[in-house]
Amino acid sequence: MIKGEKIRFDIHNILYSVYKFNKTLNNKDIQKKINGHKKEDISFLNNVTLNSMRFHLHSSKIINRYIKHKIKDKEKILLISAITQIVFLNFKEYAVINCSVEIAKKLKIYHGLINATLKNISKDKEKLKKLDIEFDDLPLWFKNKSKSLTDSQKKNFLKNFNQEPSIHIVFKNEQKLKIFEETLIRTSTISGFLKDRKNVIEIKSYEQGNWWVQDFSSFFPLQNLKVKEKNKKFLDACAAPGGKSFQILSKGYNLTLNDKSKFRIQTLKTNLDRLNLNSKILNKDFTKFHEEEKYDFIIIDAPCSAVGTIRKNPEIFFKNSGPDFKKLETIQEKMLEKASNLLNKNGLIIYMVCSFLNCENEDQISKFLTKRSDFKIFNFDFYIENIKYSKMISNNFVKIVPDTLQGYNIDGYFAAYLKKIK
Ligand SMILES: C[S@@+](CC[C@H](N)C(=O)[O-])C[C@H]1O[C@@H](n2cnc3c(N)ncnc32)[C@H](O)[C@@H]1O
Repeated sequence: MIKGEKIRFDIHNILYSVYKFNKTLNNKDIQKKINGHKKEDISFLNNVTLNSMRFHLHSSKIINRYIKHKIKDKEKILLISAITQIVFLNFKEYAVINCSVEIAKKLKIYHGLINATLKNISKDKEKLKKLDIEFDDLPLWFKNKSKSLTDSQKKNFLKNFNQEPSIHIVFKNEQKLKIFEETLIRTSTISGFLKDRKNVIEIKSYEQGNWWVQDFSSFFPLQNLKVKEKNKKFLDACAAPGGKSFQILSKGYNLTLNDKSKFRIQTLKTNLDRLNLNSKILNKDFTKFHEEEKYDFIIIDAPCSAVGTIRKNPEIFFKNSGPDFKKLETIQEKMLEKASNLLNKNGLIIYMVCSFLNCENEDQISKFLTKRSDFKIFNFDFYIENIKYSKMISNNFVKIVPDTLQGYNIDGYFAAYLKKIK
Protein backbone atom coordinates (compact mmCIF):
# COMPACT_ATOMS: atom_id res chain seq x y z
CA MET A 1 0.00 0.00 0.00
CA ILE A 2 1.26 3.50 -0.76
CA LYS A 3 1.55 6.17 1.98
CA GLY A 4 -1.85 7.58 3.00
CA GLU A 5 -3.79 4.90 1.11
CA LYS A 6 -5.05 2.91 4.12
CA ILE A 7 -6.52 5.92 5.92
CA ARG A 8 -8.12 7.21 2.71
CA PHE A 9 -9.56 3.77 2.09
CA ASP A 10 -11.19 3.90 5.57
CA ILE A 11 -12.48 7.41 4.84
CA HIS A 12 -14.04 6.08 1.63
CA ASN A 13 -15.75 3.22 3.49
CA ILE A 14 -17.09 5.56 6.20
CA LEU A 15 -18.47 8.01 3.64
CA TYR A 16 -19.98 5.16 1.65
CA SER A 17 -21.82 3.70 4.65
CA VAL A 18 -23.20 7.13 5.59
CA TYR A 19 -24.29 7.84 2.01
CA LYS A 20 -25.62 4.42 1.12
CA PHE A 21 -26.84 2.98 4.43
CA ASN A 22 -27.88 6.14 6.28
CA LYS A 23 -25.32 5.56 9.06
CA THR A 24 -24.38 8.46 11.32
CA LEU A 25 -20.79 9.23 12.30
CA ASN A 26 -21.42 8.26 15.92
CA ASN A 27 -22.52 4.78 14.84
CA LYS A 28 -20.62 2.20 16.95
CA ASP A 29 -18.92 0.45 13.99
CA ILE A 30 -17.84 3.73 12.44
CA GLN A 31 -16.47 4.97 15.77
CA LYS A 32 -14.54 1.69 16.12
CA LYS A 33 -13.01 2.18 12.69
CA ILE A 34 -12.05 5.79 13.51
CA ASN A 35 -10.61 4.98 16.94
CA GLY A 36 -8.49 2.17 15.46
CA HIS A 37 -6.19 4.86 14.02
CA LYS A 38 -3.35 6.75 15.72
CA LYS A 39 -4.23 10.11 17.35
CA GLU A 40 -2.67 12.26 14.58
CA ASP A 41 -4.38 10.15 11.91
CA ILE A 42 -7.78 10.56 13.62
CA SER A 43 -7.68 14.32 13.14
CA PHE A 44 -6.76 13.83 9.43
CA LEU A 45 -9.61 11.33 9.08
CA ASN A 46 -12.15 13.59 10.79
CA ASN A 47 -11.01 16.58 8.77
CA VAL A 48 -11.36 14.82 5.40
CA THR A 49 -14.56 12.94 6.30
CA LEU A 50 -16.44 15.94 7.71
CA ASN A 51 -15.32 18.30 4.97
CA SER A 52 -16.13 15.78 2.23
CA MET A 53 -19.68 15.83 3.56
CA ARG A 54 -19.74 19.62 4.04
CA PHE A 55 -18.53 20.20 0.47
CA HIS A 56 -20.28 17.31 -1.23
CA LEU A 57 -22.78 19.57 -2.99
CA HIS A 58 -19.90 21.61 -4.42
CA SER A 59 -17.98 18.45 -5.35
CA SER A 60 -21.04 16.87 -6.99
CA LYS A 61 -21.53 19.99 -9.07
CA ILE A 62 -17.88 19.78 -10.13
CA ILE A 63 -18.24 16.08 -11.04
CA ASN A 64 -21.21 16.92 -13.25
CA ARG A 65 -19.09 19.43 -15.15
CA TYR A 66 -16.36 16.90 -15.90
CA ILE A 67 -18.28 13.64 -16.33
CA LYS A 68 -21.35 13.59 -18.51
CA HIS A 69 -22.45 9.96 -18.00
CA LYS A 70 -23.94 8.31 -14.90
CA ILE A 71 -21.30 7.00 -12.52
CA LYS A 72 -21.41 4.33 -9.79
CA ASP A 73 -21.96 5.37 -6.16
CA LYS A 74 -18.46 4.20 -5.17
CA GLU A 75 -16.91 6.29 -7.96
CA LYS A 76 -18.92 9.30 -6.85
CA ILE A 77 -17.89 8.94 -3.17
CA LEU A 78 -14.23 8.45 -4.06
CA LEU A 79 -14.30 11.55 -6.29
CA ILE A 80 -16.13 13.66 -3.68
CA SER A 81 -13.48 12.91 -1.09
CA ALA A 82 -10.58 13.49 -3.53
CA ILE A 83 -12.06 16.77 -4.85
CA THR A 84 -12.56 18.01 -1.27
CA GLN A 85 -8.91 17.31 -0.51
CA ILE A 86 -7.57 18.89 -3.70
CA VAL A 87 -9.88 21.88 -4.17
CA PHE A 88 -11.21 22.77 -0.72
CA LEU A 89 -8.50 21.52 1.66
CA ASN A 90 -5.55 22.39 -0.61
CA PHE A 91 -3.76 19.05 -0.19
CA LYS A 92 -0.99 18.09 -2.63
CA GLU A 93 -2.84 16.70 -5.63
CA TYR A 94 -0.37 13.98 -6.65
CA ALA A 95 -0.70 12.22 -3.26
CA VAL A 96 -4.49 12.42 -3.38
CA ILE A 97 -4.68 11.23 -7.02
CA ASN A 98 -2.22 8.33 -6.51
CA CYS A 99 -4.09 7.08 -3.44
CA SER A 100 -7.49 7.46 -5.13
CA VAL A 101 -6.34 5.45 -8.15
CA GLU A 102 -5.01 2.65 -5.92
CA ILE A 103 -8.27 2.61 -3.94
CA ALA A 104 -10.27 2.50 -7.19
CA LYS A 105 -8.28 -0.58 -8.27
CA LYS A 106 -9.08 -2.32 -4.96
CA LEU A 107 -12.76 -1.36 -5.25
CA LYS A 108 -12.75 -2.68 -8.82
CA ILE A 109 -14.14 0.58 -10.16
CA TYR A 110 -12.95 2.48 -13.25
CA HIS A 111 -9.56 3.79 -12.07
CA GLY A 112 -8.77 5.40 -15.45
CA LEU A 113 -11.80 7.65 -15.02
CA ILE A 114 -10.76 8.63 -11.48
CA ASN A 115 -7.23 9.43 -12.64
CA ALA A 116 -8.21 11.51 -15.68
CA THR A 117 -11.02 13.39 -13.93
CA LEU A 118 -8.90 14.33 -10.91
CA LYS A 119 -6.02 15.50 -13.12
CA ASN A 120 -8.39 17.78 -15.07
CA ILE A 121 -9.96 19.11 -11.87
CA SER A 122 -6.51 19.81 -10.37
CA LYS A 123 -5.64 22.01 -13.33
CA ASP A 124 -8.77 24.12 -12.77
CA LYS A 125 -8.76 24.10 -8.97
CA GLU A 126 -8.37 27.86 -8.40
CA LYS A 127 -11.42 28.54 -10.56
CA LEU A 128 -13.41 25.71 -8.94
CA LYS A 129 -12.81 27.02 -5.41
CA LYS A 130 -15.12 29.94 -6.28
CA LEU A 131 -18.05 27.73 -7.27
CA ASP A 132 -21.31 28.81 -5.63
CA ILE A 133 -24.08 26.63 -4.24
CA GLU A 134 -27.62 27.84 -4.84
CA PHE A 135 -30.72 27.01 -2.84
CA ASP A 136 -31.86 24.83 -5.70
CA ASP A 137 -28.78 22.60 -5.26
CA LEU A 138 -29.86 21.56 -1.74
CA PRO A 139 -31.58 18.18 -1.17
CA LEU A 140 -35.17 18.02 -2.43
CA TRP A 141 -36.63 17.02 0.97
CA PHE A 142 -35.04 20.10 2.54
CA LYS A 143 -36.30 22.46 -0.16
CA ASN A 144 -39.82 21.09 0.29
CA LYS A 145 -39.76 21.45 4.06
CA SER A 146 -38.15 24.89 4.21
CA LYS A 147 -40.51 26.77 1.87
CA SER A 148 -41.44 29.25 4.62
CA LEU A 149 -37.88 30.63 4.89
CA THR A 150 -37.55 34.20 3.66
CA ASP A 151 -35.14 35.03 0.83
CA SER A 152 -32.71 36.59 3.24
CA GLN A 153 -32.83 33.53 5.54
CA LYS A 154 -32.13 31.30 2.53
CA LYS A 155 -29.23 33.50 1.47
CA ASN A 156 -27.80 33.47 4.97
CA PHE A 157 -28.18 29.70 5.22
CA LEU A 158 -26.30 29.18 1.94
CA LYS A 159 -23.51 31.40 3.23
CA ASN A 160 -22.86 29.40 6.35
CA PHE A 161 -24.33 25.86 6.28
CA ASN A 162 -21.04 24.23 5.31
CA GLN A 163 -18.74 26.10 7.69
CA GLU A 164 -17.05 24.54 10.69
CA PRO A 165 -19.05 24.95 13.91
CA SER A 166 -17.76 27.31 16.61
CA ILE A 167 -17.18 26.10 20.16
CA HIS A 168 -19.52 27.65 22.73
CA ILE A 169 -18.93 26.94 26.41
CA VAL A 170 -21.34 27.21 29.33
CA PHE A 171 -20.12 27.56 32.93
CA LYS A 172 -21.78 26.39 36.13
CA ASN A 173 -21.69 29.97 37.44
CA GLU A 174 -20.06 33.38 36.93
CA GLN A 175 -17.20 32.56 39.26
CA LYS A 176 -16.14 29.58 37.16
CA LEU A 177 -16.14 31.71 34.01
CA LYS A 178 -13.92 34.32 35.67
CA ILE A 179 -11.16 31.77 36.35
CA PHE A 180 -11.24 30.21 32.86
CA GLU A 181 -7.75 30.08 31.32
CA GLU A 182 -8.66 30.45 27.61
CA THR A 183 -9.77 33.58 25.73
CA LEU A 184 -13.53 33.73 25.59
CA ILE A 185 -15.90 35.91 23.57
CA ARG A 186 -18.67 36.27 26.12
CA THR A 187 -22.31 35.71 25.23
CA SER A 188 -23.68 36.01 28.80
CA THR A 189 -22.36 36.15 32.36
CA ILE A 190 -21.89 32.37 32.27
CA SER A 191 -21.10 31.56 28.62
CA GLY A 192 -18.94 32.40 25.63
CA PHE A 193 -17.27 31.27 22.42
CA LEU A 194 -13.75 29.89 22.51
CA LYS A 195 -11.77 32.52 20.58
CA ASP A 196 -9.48 29.91 19.04
CA ARG A 197 -10.66 26.44 18.06
CA LYS A 198 -9.01 23.64 19.99
CA ASN A 199 -9.66 20.17 21.29
CA VAL A 200 -11.57 21.01 24.49
CA ILE A 201 -10.34 17.88 26.27
CA GLU A 202 -6.86 19.40 26.15
CA ILE A 203 -7.97 22.49 28.13
CA LYS A 204 -6.61 22.09 31.68
CA SER A 205 -9.84 22.98 33.51
CA TYR A 206 -11.86 20.39 31.53
CA GLU A 207 -11.23 17.74 34.17
CA GLN A 208 -12.23 20.13 36.99
CA GLY A 209 -15.79 20.03 35.65
CA ASN A 210 -16.49 23.79 35.73
CA TRP A 211 -18.01 23.92 32.25
CA TRP A 212 -19.41 21.99 29.31
CA VAL A 213 -19.72 22.56 25.55
CA GLN A 214 -23.22 23.62 24.46
CA ASP A 215 -24.24 25.55 21.39
CA PHE A 216 -25.46 29.10 22.11
CA SER A 217 -28.84 28.44 20.46
CA SER A 218 -29.61 25.40 22.60
CA PHE A 219 -28.39 27.17 25.76
CA PHE A 220 -30.43 30.34 25.19
CA PRO A 221 -34.05 29.16 25.89
CA LEU A 222 -33.35 27.75 29.37
CA GLN A 223 -30.98 30.58 30.23
CA ASN A 224 -33.99 32.88 30.06
CA LEU A 225 -36.25 30.71 32.19
CA LYS A 226 -37.07 32.58 35.40
CA VAL A 227 -37.99 30.32 38.32
CA LYS A 228 -37.70 31.78 41.82
CA GLU A 229 -38.83 28.79 43.90
CA LYS A 230 -36.10 26.16 44.25
CA ASN A 231 -38.58 23.47 45.34
CA LYS A 232 -40.28 23.18 41.94
CA LYS A 233 -40.05 19.76 40.28
CA PHE A 234 -38.33 19.59 36.90
CA LEU A 235 -38.25 16.66 34.47
CA ASP A 236 -35.91 16.48 31.47
CA ALA A 237 -37.73 13.92 29.32
CA CYS A 238 -34.95 13.46 26.71
CA ALA A 239 -31.87 14.35 28.71
CA ALA A 240 -28.83 12.68 27.14
CA PRO A 241 -26.05 13.69 26.66
CA GLY A 242 -27.09 16.39 29.11
CA GLY A 243 -26.61 20.06 28.13
CA LYS A 244 -30.07 21.24 29.22
CA SER A 245 -29.96 19.18 32.41
CA PHE A 246 -26.60 20.68 33.38
CA GLN A 247 -28.11 24.16 33.02
CA ILE A 248 -30.92 23.28 35.43
CA LEU A 249 -28.83 21.27 37.90
CA SER A 250 -26.13 23.92 38.16
CA LYS A 251 -28.82 26.40 39.25
CA GLY A 252 -29.70 24.03 42.11
CA TYR A 253 -33.17 22.88 40.99
CA ASN A 254 -34.74 19.51 41.70
CA LEU A 255 -34.48 17.71 38.35
CA THR A 256 -35.22 14.15 37.23
CA LEU A 257 -33.34 13.10 34.10
CA ASN A 258 -34.69 10.60 31.62
CA ASP A 259 -33.61 9.17 28.27
CA LYS A 260 -34.72 6.13 26.32
CA SER A 261 -31.28 5.24 25.02
CA LYS A 262 -29.10 3.08 27.31
CA PHE A 263 -26.03 3.99 25.30
CA ARG A 264 -26.66 7.75 25.62
CA ILE A 265 -27.46 7.40 29.34
CA GLN A 266 -23.90 6.09 29.80
CA THR A 267 -22.52 9.25 28.16
CA LEU A 268 -24.85 11.34 30.33
CA LYS A 269 -23.53 9.65 33.49
CA THR A 270 -19.90 10.18 32.45
CA ASN A 271 -20.67 13.86 31.84
CA LEU A 272 -22.45 14.26 35.20
CA ASP A 273 -19.47 12.65 36.97
CA ARG A 274 -17.02 15.04 35.35
CA LEU A 275 -19.21 18.02 36.29
CA ASN A 276 -19.74 16.77 39.87
CA LEU A 277 -23.50 16.93 39.38
CA ASN A 278 -25.92 14.23 40.31
CA SER A 279 -29.59 13.54 40.25
CA LYS A 280 -32.21 10.84 39.76
CA ILE A 281 -31.81 9.19 36.34
CA LEU A 282 -34.47 7.17 34.51
CA ASN A 283 -34.04 5.09 31.37
CA LYS A 284 -37.59 4.94 29.97
CA ASP A 285 -39.62 5.64 26.90
CA PHE A 286 -41.11 9.00 27.85
CA THR A 287 -44.23 8.43 25.74
CA LYS A 288 -45.01 5.46 28.01
CA PHE A 289 -44.45 7.18 31.38
CA HIS A 290 -46.99 6.32 34.12
CA GLU A 291 -48.97 9.40 35.02
CA GLU A 292 -49.14 9.31 38.85
CA GLU A 293 -46.13 11.53 39.47
CA LYS A 294 -46.56 15.17 38.40
CA TYR A 295 -44.01 17.90 37.59
CA ASP A 296 -43.93 21.71 37.46
CA PHE A 297 -41.52 21.98 34.50
CA ILE A 298 -41.07 19.44 31.74
CA ILE A 299 -38.28 19.91 29.22
CA ILE A 300 -38.85 18.12 25.93
CA ASP A 301 -35.71 18.37 23.82
CA ALA A 302 -37.33 16.13 21.27
CA PRO A 303 -35.78 13.83 18.68
CA CYS A 304 -35.90 15.76 15.38
CA SER A 305 -34.33 16.10 11.94
CA ALA A 306 -31.45 17.99 13.67
CA VAL A 307 -31.09 20.11 10.56
CA GLY A 308 -30.23 23.11 12.75
CA THR A 309 -26.96 21.32 13.57
CA ILE A 310 -26.03 20.83 9.90
CA ARG A 311 -22.51 22.21 10.48
CA LYS A 312 -21.81 19.66 13.24
CA ASN A 313 -23.70 16.87 11.47
CA PRO A 314 -23.05 17.38 7.75
CA GLU A 315 -24.25 13.82 7.10
CA ILE A 316 -27.83 15.17 7.26
CA PHE A 317 -27.46 16.51 3.70
CA PHE A 318 -24.94 13.87 2.60
CA LYS A 319 -27.16 10.83 3.22
CA ASN A 320 -28.95 9.40 0.24
CA SER A 321 -32.36 9.95 1.85
CA GLY A 322 -33.81 12.60 4.15
CA PRO A 323 -35.03 12.25 7.75
CA ASP A 324 -38.20 10.24 8.44
CA PHE A 325 -40.42 13.25 9.18
CA LYS A 326 -43.57 11.21 9.68
CA LYS A 327 -41.93 9.20 12.45
CA LEU A 328 -40.31 12.26 14.04
CA GLU A 329 -43.46 14.35 13.99
CA THR A 330 -45.45 11.49 15.56
CA ILE A 331 -43.01 11.11 18.42
CA GLN A 332 -42.87 14.89 18.97
CA GLU A 333 -46.66 14.96 19.13
CA LYS A 334 -46.79 12.03 21.54
CA MET A 335 -44.20 13.66 23.80
CA LEU A 336 -46.18 16.89 23.99
CA GLU A 337 -49.31 14.93 24.80
CA LYS A 338 -47.58 12.89 27.53
CA ALA A 339 -45.99 16.00 29.07
CA SER A 340 -49.35 17.76 29.17
CA ASN A 341 -50.75 14.92 31.30
CA LEU A 342 -47.78 14.92 33.66
CA LEU A 343 -47.83 18.64 34.38
CA ASN A 344 -49.20 20.42 37.46
CA LYS A 345 -51.50 23.39 36.98
CA ASN A 346 -49.53 26.57 36.18
CA GLY A 347 -46.65 24.34 35.11
CA LEU A 348 -44.57 24.86 31.95
CA ILE A 349 -43.59 22.60 29.08
CA ILE A 350 -40.44 23.77 27.36
CA TYR A 351 -40.59 22.21 23.90
CA MET A 352 -37.33 22.41 21.96
CA VAL A 353 -35.87 20.99 18.76
CA CYS A 354 -32.60 21.66 16.95
CA SER A 355 -34.57 22.24 13.78
CA PHE A 356 -35.95 25.39 12.17
CA LEU A 357 -38.49 23.63 9.95
CA ASN A 358 -42.12 24.61 10.55
CA CYS A 359 -43.32 20.99 10.58
CA GLU A 360 -41.25 20.38 13.75
CA ASN A 361 -41.78 23.90 15.15
CA GLU A 362 -44.88 26.12 14.93
CA ASP A 363 -47.00 23.40 13.29
CA GLN A 364 -46.45 21.07 16.26
CA ILE A 365 -47.38 23.83 18.71
CA SER A 366 -50.55 24.81 16.81
CA LYS A 367 -51.66 21.16 16.59
CA PHE A 368 -51.10 20.82 20.33
CA LEU A 369 -52.96 24.01 21.21
CA THR A 370 -55.95 23.04 19.08
CA LYS A 371 -56.26 19.83 21.07
CA ARG A 372 -55.49 21.32 24.49
CA SER A 373 -57.43 24.45 25.41
CA ASP A 374 -55.97 24.16 28.94
CA PHE A 375 -52.59 25.37 27.58
CA LYS A 376 -51.38 28.68 26.18
CA ILE A 377 -48.12 30.02 24.82
CA PHE A 378 -46.20 31.62 27.64
CA ASN A 379 -44.39 34.89 27.02
CA PHE A 380 -40.71 34.59 26.44
CA ASP A 381 -39.37 36.89 29.10
CA PHE A 382 -35.76 38.09 28.70
CA TYR A 383 -33.22 38.74 31.34
CA ILE A 384 -32.19 42.31 30.75
CA GLU A 385 -28.65 41.29 29.70
CA ASN A 386 -30.18 39.20 26.90
CA ILE A 387 -32.33 41.92 25.32
CA LYS A 388 -29.66 42.23 22.62
CA TYR A 389 -30.73 38.79 21.38
CA SER A 390 -34.36 39.76 20.81
CA LYS A 391 -34.10 39.13 17.04
CA MET A 392 -34.00 35.43 17.95
CA ILE A 393 -37.58 35.62 19.20
CA SER A 394 -40.59 35.76 16.95
CA ASN A 395 -44.22 35.37 18.11
CA ASN A 396 -42.96 34.34 21.53
CA PHE A 397 -40.95 31.43 20.10
CA VAL A 398 -37.19 31.13 19.90
CA LYS A 399 -36.56 30.61 16.20
CA ILE A 400 -33.02 30.58 14.87
CA VAL A 401 -31.92 29.60 11.37
CA PRO A 402 -28.16 28.66 11.46
CA ASP A 403 -26.50 32.02 11.84
CA THR A 404 -23.55 33.91 13.24
CA LEU A 405 -23.33 35.77 16.52
CA GLN A 406 -20.42 38.13 17.14
CA GLY A 407 -18.71 36.46 14.17
CA TYR A 408 -19.12 32.93 15.55
CA ASN A 409 -21.42 30.21 14.22
CA ILE A 410 -24.60 29.24 16.07
CA ASP A 411 -27.01 26.38 15.32
CA GLY A 412 -30.57 26.60 14.08
CA TYR A 413 -33.06 26.08 16.90
CA PHE A 414 -36.66 26.34 18.05
CA ALA A 415 -38.16 26.62 21.55
CA ALA A 416 -41.64 27.32 22.90
CA TYR A 417 -42.87 27.68 26.48
CA LEU A 418 -46.35 26.23 27.00
CA LYS A 419 -48.22 27.06 30.21
CA LYS A 420 -50.94 24.87 31.73
CA ILE A 421 -53.61 27.36 32.72
CA LYS A 422 -56.37 25.06 33.97
C1 LIG B 1 -32.04 16.09 21.02
S1 LIG B 1 -31.53 14.75 21.96
C2 LIG B 1 -31.54 15.40 23.58
C3 LIG B 1 -30.35 16.28 23.90
C4 LIG B 1 -30.25 16.65 25.38
N1 LIG B 1 -31.45 17.26 25.88
C5 LIG B 1 -29.08 17.57 25.63
O1 LIG B 1 -29.28 18.76 25.89
O2 LIG B 1 -27.95 17.11 25.62
C6 LIG B 1 -32.95 13.74 21.97
C7 LIG B 1 -32.88 12.58 22.92
O3 LIG B 1 -34.15 11.94 22.96
C8 LIG B 1 -33.96 10.59 23.29
N2 LIG B 1 -35.22 9.89 22.97
C9 LIG B 1 -35.69 9.50 21.76
N3 LIG B 1 -36.90 8.92 21.90
C10 LIG B 1 -37.19 8.95 23.23
C11 LIG B 1 -38.31 8.49 24.00
N4 LIG B 1 -39.35 7.89 23.42
N5 LIG B 1 -38.28 8.67 25.34
C12 LIG B 1 -37.21 9.27 25.93
N6 LIG B 1 -36.14 9.70 25.25
C13 LIG B 1 -36.13 9.56 23.92
C14 LIG B 1 -32.75 10.22 22.44
O4 LIG B 1 -32.14 9.06 22.97
C15 LIG B 1 -31.89 11.46 22.54
O5 LIG B 1 -30.93 11.33 23.57
